[in-house]
Amino acid sequence: MSDATPGTVYLVGAGPGDPELLTLRAHRLLRQCDALVHDALVPGALLDLVPDHCERHFVGKRRGHHSVPQPSTNAVLADLARRHRTVVRLKGGDPFLFGRGGEEAAHLAAQGIPVEVVPGVTAGIAAPAYAGIPVTHRRAGSSVTFVTGHEEIDKARPGVDWRGLARSSDGLVIYMGLHNLAAITAELLAGGLAPDTPAAVIQQGTVRGQRTLLAPLAELADAVQRGGFGSPAIVVVGAVVDQRVAACAPTPADTEMPLPL
Ligand SMILES: C[S@@+](CC[C@H](N)C(=O)[O-])C[C@H]1O[C@@H](n2cnc3c(N)ncnc32)[C@H](O)[C@@H]1O
Repeated sequence: MSDATPGTVYLVGAGPGDPELLTLRAHRLLRQCDALVHDALVPGALLDLVPDHCERHFVGKRRGHHSVPQPSTNAVLADLARRHRTVVRLKGGDPFLFGRGGEEAAHLAAQGIPVEVVPGVTAGIAAPAYAGIPVTHRRAGSSVTFVTGHEEIDKARPGVDWRGLARSSDGLVIYMGLHNLAAITAELLAGGLAPDTPAAVIQQGTVRGQRTLLAPLAELADAVQRGGFGSPAIVVVGAVVDQRVAACAPTPADTEMPLPL
């Protein structure tokens, strides 16, 4: 490829872990890409789909190490687009949901590099589903909020208004919430949620080692500690948890989850 005609960067959702949750479009792009840039929470089975000639780059976070800084990832993507026709930027779940896909898309577009997003199945829907929990239900929840439990400390804008969410959203699906869980549940209770509000944690959803914990909100953080739950995990709060139909939960894939964040 010459500098004048850059290739296209596809921001591709890898889904939550079970390789069968990959979209057909993502599968096709993986099979034909010339370069692959991927994160930690991407199933290993998907990395094997790329052609032999594909140039691979890992830009995720390994246990005990910092993740690759975002400007470096942006630079890698721009460089690859100038040298290859089809570049796949593979991200866990959906690229535009707590995946920095928006930042990468804006950076590439500003440099005149063609960029296209390929949505993926997000962990916040799939992990509860693999535990039999619907995130909305006509009798139990007409609204659901996807929220991060891991706010950056140096963020310019104010953090999550947990007390406001307690009043305004029937259900909450919390990503990256385990680290701050005691503080989050305290805020939700202070915002008016009842101590016996149903809650669940699903660790390593859709893959081998999936575990589900059900507990009333007021007891959730202690139960997580006692049970030794860790990342990656999704927390669900609200009456939808009581609508769980365990019989509908698929068997998790017999696939190892990559190293936890
Ligand atoms: C940086 S966010 C990325 C979310 C991703 N873009 C998505 O749409 O699922 C990473 C967080 O997603 C959640 N997560 C990702 N994969 C998961 C899985 N298989 N089971 C449970 N939680 C998962 C965890 O809360 C994890 O800390």
